[in-house]
Amino acid sequence: MEATISAARGSANVREKRVRRFKALLFAVCLLPIVREAWLVVSGAEVNPIEFVIRSTGLWALVWLWAALFISPLKKLTGWGSLLRFRRELGLFSFFYACLHLVCYLWLDKFFDWADVFKDVIGRPFITIGTVAVVLMLPLAVTSTDGWVRRLKRNWSRLHWLVYPAAVLSVWHYFLEVKRDTTQPWIYAVVLGLLLGWRVYERGIRPWLARRMSPVR
Ligand code: HEM
Repeated sequence: MEATISAARGSANVREKRVRRFKALLFAVCLLPIVREAWLVVSGAEVNPIEFVIRSTGLWALVWLWAALFISPLKKLTGWGSLLRFRRELGLFSFFYACLHLVCYLWLDKFFDWADVFKDVIGRPFITIGTVAVVLMLPLAVTSTDGWVRRLKRNWSRLHWLVYPAAVLSVWHYFLEVKRDTTQPWIYAVVLGLLLGWRVYERGIRPWLARRMSPVR
């Protein structure tokens, strides 16, 4: 009996170590775009470094957000429960890149001219929509700690539904920003549509069907 318990503990420890190592690797991977951006700007490879940095940080905010949204379906498909432990990291990196994107815009594009920023926020729909997306992401980032998860209990999951409107607004912002070729925003929009459809099926349609099919009613 004791041998079984210690074997179970041993394999749990191995699993925990593997998850921690993978989290560290993911952390490094999520920082790579910044290294690449810095290199391209410093080396002078980018003809318009300001536009490049603003666009690139925006795009990576979107990529990490989509990656975070992929975790639940991936967990369902693979049955690997530990995947959920990478969702917070991806979500926080998305928020981090969105903040960098915002700071680059305020600093490099607007030189902290607040009157001009205000004019943009109320006068340019794509900036208004991006701003609302960041505002929606803020409470998610703030409440991502274990303490907040415990404190908010079921309301934590309810609050984290905000990720979906934030994602919809982010891709909308992308559509409005792209002037000609909308292929890329369409790819993100279709993937988001599939993710949302899966979520509605899992949370709404599937339990409803199960209730209807159940012999005890
Ligand atoms: C206060 C909030 C935001 C502001 C002020 C803002 C501002 C901008 C600006 C000025 C550009 C255009 C850069 C250019 O054409 O040179 C841009 C592009 C973009 N932004 Fe934002 N943004 C905000 C929020 C977001 C958020 C939350 C996301 C995603 C999570 C995002 C994703 C993008 C993407 C994907 C692009 C286009 C990149 C490309 O063309 O390759 N933005 N944003």
